[in-house]
Parts: sequence; C-alpha cells; structure tokens
Amino acid sequence: MKSIIKGMGHYVPDNIVTNDDLAKIMDTNDEWITERTGIKERRHVGRDGDEPTSILGYKASLKAIENAGIDKSEIDFIIFATLSPDLYFPGCGVQLQNYLELDTIGALDVRNQCSGFIYALSTAHAYIQAGMYKNILVVGAENHSFGLDMTTRGRGVSVIFGDGAGAMIVSASEDDSSDGILACNMHSEGKYDEELTMAFPGTKYGWVDKLLDENYEVDYQKIYPYMNGTFVFKHAVTRFPETIKESFEKAGKSIEDLDILIPHQANLRISQFLQKKMGLRDDQVFDNIQKYGNTTAASIPLALSEAVEQGKVQRGDLVCLAAFGAGFTWGSVLLRY
Ligand code: UT7
Repeated sequence: MKSIIKGMGHYVPDNIVTNDDLAKIMDTNDEWITERTGIKERRHVGRDGDEPTSILGYKASLKAIENAGIDKSEIDFIIFATLSPDLYFPGCGVQLQNYLELDTIGALDVRNQCSGFIYALSTAHAYIQAGMYKNILVVGAENHSFGLDMTTRGRGVSVIFGDGAGAMIVSASEDDSSDGILACNMHSEGKYDEELTMAFPGTKYGWVDKLLDENYEVDYQKIYPYMNGTFVFKHAVTRFPETIKESFEKAGKSIEDLDILIPHQANLRISQFLQKKMGLRDDQVFDNIQKYGNTTAASIPLALSEAVEQGKVQRGDLVCLAAFGAGFTWGSVLLRY
C-alpha cells in the first residue's frame, strides 16, 4: 500500500508584523533580524486575536480537503502537530474533529515542535501502510503570538516566530501513478530538552503553587519560550544533512534525483548552509521564512502548500521534507509528490 499526498492547503492570519513594527516595541532592528535570520515579516494573531491554533488548523484543513477533491466524511483519522495548543489539554486534534463536524474518528496530537509535521506525516504513512486508515488529515498549526515575550528581554526568540497553519490529506493508494512517501526517519536527543523550551505550565517546576504565592518572583525565562540560539543552530546544521542522507539511502535514491528540498523554516542561514552543503541550485530549495518567520510545526506544510500553489512543486517531483527543533528532535520524509 502506498501513501500519497492527495491535497494540500494553508492558512495564515491577516495581521502582518514587519521588523520595523517590532523595532517600535523592543530594542531590535530590521538589519539585525534580516542579517541573522532572513525574516522580513511574520503573521501574528496577537493576544486579543480570535483565532486559536485549532481554528488556524481548521482553515488550512478546509483548503486541503477542497484541494484533495474528497468529501470531508471520507477522512478517517486526524493527526495534529502543534506546540501551542488552545488548551493545555485536551489537544487540538479533537477540536478540529468538532469544527469539521466529522464522525467520531480518532484524533491524535503530536508534540514534537519544529519536527512535529515530520513525526505526524511519518505516523500517517505507517498507519496507511498497516491498512488502518484510508484518508488521514495531517495538520501543523501554531499560534505563537499568544505567548511570546514582546519586550527587549525576549527579542532573541520573539522576532523569529510567527503564526500559521498547513494541512495535508494523506491517502492510501494502489494506483501506479504515484509512489507517494518513499522513506522517512525520526530522531531525538532529550538531554537537550531545555536548550529550546517553554517550561510553563509543565509539571517540573511546580507552577500552580508558585503562581498562587504572592511572593513568587517570576522567572521570565521559564514563563516564556527560551532558546539557546547558537547551540540550537550548531546542532541543526549537523542533524539536517544526516537525516536527509538517511532518507535518500533508505529509498535507494541519489541526491542528484532530488527536485526540491523543503526544509523546516528555522532560519534562512540554515537553508543556505544546507543548499551549499548538498550542492543544490537556488530553485531546488524552497524558502518562505522571509514572509512568515518560523512557524514551527506549521512551517513544512505551509511551505509545501505554497510551493505547490506557485507551481514550484509539480506532480511526480521528488521532494524532501526535513526538520530539526526542540527536544531536540529531527527527521525527514522523502516523497514523490
Ligand atoms: O526552529 C527551531 C530551531 N531553531 C533554530 O534553528 C534557531 C537557531 N538559532 C538561530 O537562528 C540564531 O542563533 C538566532 C537567530 C536565534 C540568534 O542569532 P545569533 O547569531 O546566534 O545571535 P546571539 O543569540 O548570539 O546574539 C548576538 C547578539 C547579542 O548581543 P551581545 O551579547 O553580542 O551584545 C544579543 O543580545 O545579538 C543580540 N540580539 C539582538 N539584537 C537585536 C539578540 N536578539 C536580538 C534582536 N535584535 N532581536
């Protein structure tokens, strides 16, 4: 049984936040952000916005369902990847099931941050190969702006992240017209869990008691997302090439066969490093971080969907998706679109 990509869709909130907008509220500037990350603007729902993560995922899902040309009743499972769920629990998968008014199908949440969509897609592939499901809705969505530290204190993290969503219909197929997913791999190294993390409201630091204690001095590094940027960067540029090579080897393909690489949009400098290391042409690496920032679990489906929409990914193309992020976790998927 093959797992083919039947349809894609994406959605981003309307509110555009430029680097100059950020410079008005914290000590940063367009030059620093552009030079270090390549980002020019990102979308923010904002603290007062009315689009929680599951709604972003819902809007992307409607587009993916339409693009796939299926009726939503044909979806028999949901996998939702996010690090910014509407509620601490339950996860966004059940909310999506409710918004789409689907039958009581299963809904699984994946918490693997920037690698979330790779983990979600690999899981969908395994379920399809096992004959469990026929049409799986795989979603990556993030509403980061609800909880970023939008002061100078948080500038090393806050300027990078943006909101958005991407969705994919992954379907079982015995048709010869497409090979679909050819290989995937997933990795983790939990000893670096707190190099890129948001501790609140996890169980490790006793939040409930602390927050109810009026003498508690807030540790902002734990309440807001924290990233040891340079450390993460160094690991990313090692793990990306490793995981990509592994998928090519598993599929018995050569890098020369690749049509396009869609890396997780972590930092334009990481994409450029990868392009150079793999000897790829400009048209073989797709980037949209300039417009959306790093949208974590949403970044790969958002980039793939946009690349399809722009005609940069065509049916039959050999596409490699790869990600690295918090955990640390990383992985890649090689597919024939
Ligand atoms: O998606 C998950 C995986 N994430 C990643 O892959 C991200 C990987 N890391 C990175 O992309 C980079 O490390 C960053 C873009 C986050 C940071 O770049 P960097 O070159 O590692 O900068 P840095 O953190 O070492 O900071 C350099 C300087 C510091 O000032 P001093 O100590 O040298 O005086 C920072 O305080 O830049 C300062 N700085 C800023 N200045 C202006 C940090 N953030 C900002 C800012 N605007 N937004």
